[in-house]
Amino acid sequence: MLPLIDKPIIQYIIEEVVDSGIEDILIVTGRGKRAIEDHFDCCLELEAYLRERNKNEWLEEVRRIANLANIHYVRQCEPRGLGHAVLCARSFIGSEPFAVLLGDDVIVGEDPCLAQMLKVFKELQGTLLALDWLPVDQVSRYGIISGAEIQPRVFHIGDLIEKPAPEEAPSRWGITGRYILSPRIFNVLETTPPGCGGEIQLTDAIKLLAKEERVFGYAFAGKRYDAGDKFGYLQATVELALRREDLGPVVLEYLKNLVSDSM
Ligand code: G1P
Repeated sequence: MLPLIDKPIIQYIIEEVVDSGIEDILIVTGRGKRAIEDHFDCCLELEAYLRERNKNEWLEEVRRIANLANIHYVRQCEPRGLGHAVLCARSFIGSEPFAVLLGDDVIVGEDPCLAQMLKVFKELQGTLLALDWLPVDQVSRYGIISGAEIQPRVFHIGDLIEKPAPEEAPSRWGITGRYILSPRIFNVLETTPPGCGGEIQLTDAIKLLAKEERVFGYAFAGKRYDAGDKFGYLQATVELALRREDLGPVVLEYLKNLVSDSM
């Protein structure tokens, strides 16, 4: 629920899903996170308050947020890792492929990252992970893949390692928080032992899945911000503000003055 400029980060993620044509969404939540449900729910008191004061633009926005998608919730009762969080969605998903988006990766670009991935998925019909080329000093913070590029931007993945030491990383292609997964992943996750950090890692399960089914990577077009990292969060705030018509010019002016004053 941490806001980036004027809306919570999770709303950016939900809007990416909706803009990619998906309407049924399950949010894996947990204790103390009820504010997420309230944010996407309708709030009659707030609507009445805004209507009385003729704040029509805000009223429309509040209603738009409440009608974004069919949002469902499941609670993960203890933080046992991303793999375990995905397993919590099993009965909601059933036996179809599904997309997973992580709440701290904000991606901006001309086309939503998930929409780009869905296009590739339609052609390949296999598990697909979003990939980003990382600076060397960041490889130990992400899942890293090795693979062969089989068409522009598309890789056939051979191996995956969760948060390797830089000297053990098989490449600098990092897994970004967007996945389209085969439902077979649930069976694999059930028996995936805890890995890095003692948690059930989705990366480890996908590595096992790659022995049974083809797994692909896709180097998406766009820029990704790791809003779960302090500097990444600051970068996202500044750069998203610069992209906005209402804030861009004034923020740019402010930054120029700030830089010239500090020289
Ligand atoms: C998770 C995944 C990791 C991936 C990353 C992307 O890590 O385990 O493979 O590269 O998301 O943001 P986490 O951010 O939970 O540490």
